[in-house]
Amino acid sequence: MIELRVNGRKRRFRGPAFKRLLDVLREDFRLTGTKEGCGEGECGACTVLIDGEPVNACLVPVCQVAGRRVETVEALGTPEGLSPLQKAFLEAGGTQCGICTPGMLVTAWAYLRSGGRDDPDAIRVALSGNLCRCTGYQQIVESVLTAVRRR
Ligand code: FES
Ligand code: FES
Repeated sequence: MIELRVNGRKRRFRGPAFKRLLDVLREDFRLTGTKEGCGEGECGACTVLIDGEPVNACLVPVCQVAGRRVETVEALGTPEGLSPLQKAFLEAGGTQCGICTPGMLVTAWAYLRSGGRDDPDAIRVALSGNLCRCTGYQQIVESVLTAVRRR
């Protein structure tokens, strides 16, 4: 059995130790906000925070997060209670497709929380592991800038 803390709650996983964290979150814990794009660590769609750091959940076997803190997009806000970051994404047009947006939000959340600067280039670097095949990055950067300026 593997114990971990997910979105502030202690969870237990009974199953294969090398099952991907992405699948455990989606299938076992029903946290389907985390999406699968490439499944190979390239796109960032599956980004979650492990002990506060953005990580691709498709590359992490669940045994590696035993005793650690995992946060998913579900912890950021709810449809009824959007976080300031999610509101900024809506207002500045950064909310795009359902595959890339959760990962973008999670990475941006880590940027904000770690005191990320009011600097479009620094935001681009922070988001460089999150790909959008539609290349609509400008509004995403503006969304994060909006949230940083309101922090
Ligand atoms: S699905 Fe994990 S990086 Fe693409
Ligand atoms: S991949 Fe999501 S909008 Fe481009």
